[in-house]
Amino acid sequence: MKNTYNLRSIAAKAINQVLEQGQSLSTVIPELQQKISDKDKALLQELCFGVMRVLPQLEWFIAQLMAKPLKGKQRIFHYLIMVGMYQLTYTRIPAHASIAETVNGAISLKRPQLKGLINGVLRQFQRQQQKLVEKSNDATHHFHPKWLLTRIQKAYPHNWQHIVNANNQKPPMWLRVNQIHHSANEYLTLLQKANIAAELDEGHPNAIRLLNPCPVNMLPGFDKGWVTIQDRSAQGCAELLIPSDEEKILDLCAAPGGKTTHILEMAPNAKVLAVDIDEQRIKRVEENLQRLNLNAVIKTGDGRFPHKWADGEQFDRILLDAPCSATGVIRRHPDIKWLRRNEDIDQLVILQSEILDAIWPYLKKGGTLVYATCSILPDENNEQIKAFLKRHTDAKLSGTGTHEIPGIQIIPEIEGGDGFFYARLTKQ
Ligand SMILES: C[S@@+](CC[C@H](N)C(=O)[O-])C[C@H]1O[C@@H](n2cnc3c(N)ncnc32)[C@H](O)[C@@H]1O
Repeated sequence: MKNTYNLRSIAAKAINQVLEQGQSLSTVIPELQQKISDKDKALLQELCFGVMRVLPQLEWFIAQLMAKPLKGKQRIFHYLIMVGMYQLTYTRIPAHASIAETVNGAISLKRPQLKGLINGVLRQFQRQQQKLVEKSNDATHHFHPKWLLTRIQKAYPHNWQHIVNANNQKPPMWLRVNQIHHSANEYLTLLQKANIAAELDEGHPNAIRLLNPCPVNMLPGFDKGWVTIQDRSAQGCAELLIPSDEEKILDLCAAPGGKTTHILEMAPNAKVLAVDIDEQRIKRVEENLQRLNLNAVIKTGDGRFPHKWADGEQFDRILLDAPCSATGVIRRHPDIKWLRRNEDIDQLVILQSEILDAIWPYLKKGGTLVYATCSILPDENNEQIKAFLKRHTDAKLSGTGTHEIPGIQIIPEIEGGDGFFYARLTKQ
């Protein structure tokens, strides 16, 4: 049966919502996916994430081919043209189909009179494609916004190219094997039986990397909670926390619960309180706990004001997975590059330090706090913890570095983990 929708126009709508209205792809795409077939869901994802990944290059192509960019109500057609160029440059969809489907997007978007313009730009692009692709490399800041590229270059003068290159790739798919059910080795055998190529990870005991991403419903026992999708670097947080049964553990900034569930897989009888400010996202903690058959107390609350939700309790261990720039996970969320602003970073640094200061009194003497971010920017990471150690003389580093470099900074690696930062502190 023929589809009644035009997928390219849906992709242009999603991109328009991100770039013109500041929404994230992870909110926009699930809504739009409800209207389309399973087969097209993956293509929609590929088109939207792909355009975000190489946006400056597509902007540059358009600037070479069109005297005036489409603005205002016609802006969505600018993005439709990008969707066309992306297909021609980065997918194996035959060129004639890419162009025809993209041009037809103008009908779905109720401006059939623009078909000629879109067709003309895409045909012209096709003729000059090779030359334009070659020339675009110098003009596009490695597909990063200038402010962010400058920050990365300053923080990593020797390996910034390695980082931006990793940011521009599609991310690998990592699994966390639920140790309550299987060891990583046992689960690898189950994957092999299901013809899913994968390999173990040396650094993280429960981590497995799939050689090719696959839908979760193909993973053995996913519904039974045998396995969770989680990057290897994110798995380092609970590993560093070393939770034990019967301990009181606070997982602060917990939603959607990736680390709450990891803590409980490691210590199923720990008394875990999971807190997050976002009422919608916190519902997903509940769903994840249910799938894995684990228990925690869940509360909505602001980490800056624990007196409102902690009931005067103190904790043996606290994991603070702080709100951050997410600059370590750009390959998973390439829209971050265009949603974040340089000014946001200073504000995030203040928010992180406020949460750290507010939560510290709620850690028992002798207790352990792990501070983590999925950022690669020093201000949110090593500099943040250095300043914290100066303000709190009863805080001591515990195995994650020195006073000069108090944490472990992971940078994104093409076949490895996301960019991440962890510091472990104990209270004297
Ligand atoms: C990096 S995400 C957490 C990911 C989560 N720990 C996991 O593993 O699934 C950061 C979280 O911080 C939450 N957040 C932001 N500001 C907060 C605040 N002031 N207090 C508590 N949570 C906050 C966000 O809603 C977001 O869910």
